[in-house]
Amino acid sequence: MKKTVIKATGRYLPPRLVTNQDLSQWMDTSDEWILQRTGIEKRYWIPESGGVGVSDLGLEASKIAMDRTGWSPQDIDLIIFATLSPDLFFPGSGCLLADKLGLKSTPALDIRQQCTGFLYGLTTADAYIRSSLAKRILLVGAEVHSTGLDVSTKGRDVAVIFGDGAAAVCVERMETNTDSGVLASALHADGSLSESLMTYAPASRDNPRIDEAMLREGKHYPTMDGKSIFKHAVRRLPEVAREVLEKAGLPLSAVDLFIPHQANLRINQAFAKTLDLPESKVYNNIQQYGNTTAASIPLALDEAIEKGRVGPGSTVMFLGLGAGVTWGAVLYRFAT
Ligand code: UT7
Repeated sequence: MKKTVIKATGRYLPPRLVTNQDLSQWMDTSDEWILQRTGIEKRYWIPESGGVGVSDLGLEASKIAMDRTGWSPQDIDLIIFATLSPDLFFPGSGCLLADKLGLKSTPALDIRQQCTGFLYGLTTADAYIRSSLAKRILLVGAEVHSTGLDVSTKGRDVAVIFGDGAAAVCVERMETNTDSGVLASALHADGSLSESLMTYAPASRDNPRIDEAMLREGKHYPTMDGKSIFKHAVRRLPEVAREVLEKAGLPLSAVDLFIPHQANLRINQAFAKTLDLPESKVYNNIQQYGNTTAASIPLALDEAIEKGRVGPGSTVMFLGLGAGVTWGAVLYRFAT
């Protein structure tokens, strides 16, 4: 049977460390508020002068993952690039990454599913592999949030949360009769909640797409109804976790480690409580990186592998909820 396995992972964070204290110099906030409400201690942002896009961060993460796998760029059949902050409105960051890898005709697909980009990306990779459309896929999640945040007090509820970063995963077909690789996935979207987390402009439905009045109003900054998103996450994450386990025919106890999207430490603690899981079974690293959206789950996976929290034979569940609103879960077992 064809199975989709993760051969190696890699992560890359830009070097500019931004602490909660740094943020409190630009807006009315405090280390105490950010820690208490989100768990975040620090995050990494690209240089203030800009000039670094998600394809640049993705390239660095990809090089590490490919090096660990022993792949050269020519081995890749498909690039899947998940981001909500593409280098450009178009073309997609997957194309830009392919160029930076020296590839001239390898297909590249961008996924705009925000916090669940990795879940949609891994499920898409699995479908390509099981239908023999591809054998080796480079899956990247990357974000540059910092250039799009309102770092004045007006934007503080959003600005303190987000971090820049990238992570890459080399995904490959394996012929096996064992129960390993991607075991099941469950994906969802509810566009009626799109306005609860969005960036309004530039928007192709407006003519012009952005103007000075919009800029003055800050329409190019993300807005979030934090409480509403929080409530949906606390409800949907346990629900989709149960759904994907049911699809795979496995009990909750079969999961060695849950690797949720890193949106808010309190959301992941509530998830653990609802499912009666010890906190040690839920991986969290939001403290170090903030919310890196499409990068957050693969970044956490890369760290969990490095720390030996997961390895051959481990069963993990990736899950998350974010803008769209989209939510989902993927159940994965490492090959032995
Ligand atoms: O990955 C994408 C998905 N996103 C999420 O999952 C985010 C989900 N939501 C959240 O994480 C939380 O709702 C937030 C962290 C965004 C906000 O936490 P909260 O506990 O819901 O706070 P709040 O929005 O109800 O605000 C409480 C107070 C308000 O002041 P008043 O009205 O009580 O006087 C805010 O103005 O905290 C104030 N506040 C801040 N104070 C200091 C909001 N942001 C800040 C800030 N620093 N950065």
